Amino acid sequence: MPAKRQPLLNSMLRGVHHLALCTDDMKATTDFYVDVVGMPLVHVMKVPPGLGVGPGNRGNPPYEEIRHYFFDMGNDSLLAFFEIPKGAQPVGNRNAIGAMQHCAFVVSSRRFREVEDRLKAHGIDYVGPIPQMPGLLGIYFYDPNGIRLEFACQPADGESPNVMACVTMTKDEARAELASLPGATTEWIEKRMAALPTA
Ligand SMILES: [Fe+2]
Repeated sequence: MPAKRQPLLNSMLRGVHHLALCTDDMKATTDFYVDVVGMPLVHVMKVPPGLGVGPGNRGNPPYEEIRHYFFDMGNDSLLAFFEIPKGAQPVGNRNAIGAMQHCAFVVSSRRFREVEDRLKAHGIDYVGPIPQMPGLLGIYFYDPNGIRLEFACQPADGESPNVMACVTMTKDEARAELASLPGATTEWIEKRMAALPTA
């Protein structure tokens, strides 16, 4: 278990503002995230007219006035869903290039136990807790849309998980992996290791 360290200072500030996903059943999705996952529903709306089809579209789903709901995923970040009309889009392949394979939420030890209890109480199949990176445990399950979710917990950190600490490695370990990349030169490897949170 690496020594506890401060996260790197990064101009991105804090990471995710909101993660936007798609469903074709907003009610079932809402029930799942509120009742099973424990994320409060904090905003409900329909996308304003004119933004679905036509020149007003800014990259959102190409359907008019669809539902767009927001859940509090913790630490002042949001999980958002668009409701795609039934049958209008295929079910996604989470292993496709460019797709979201899974989303891992950070939880404290207390929440980790609580979520496992909630999954059991609702009869939701899950895998884990499985040891991942050093000091990191994961529980995996699927939402009603087939989206793969993870709860990530660092038990030794109690109520204040230090996420960056769990990816700490030695420069030698990092160098060995980077050297296996096709086209990696010694100069490139040393440059890319500059910001690595090494032990
Ligand atoms: Fe993960």
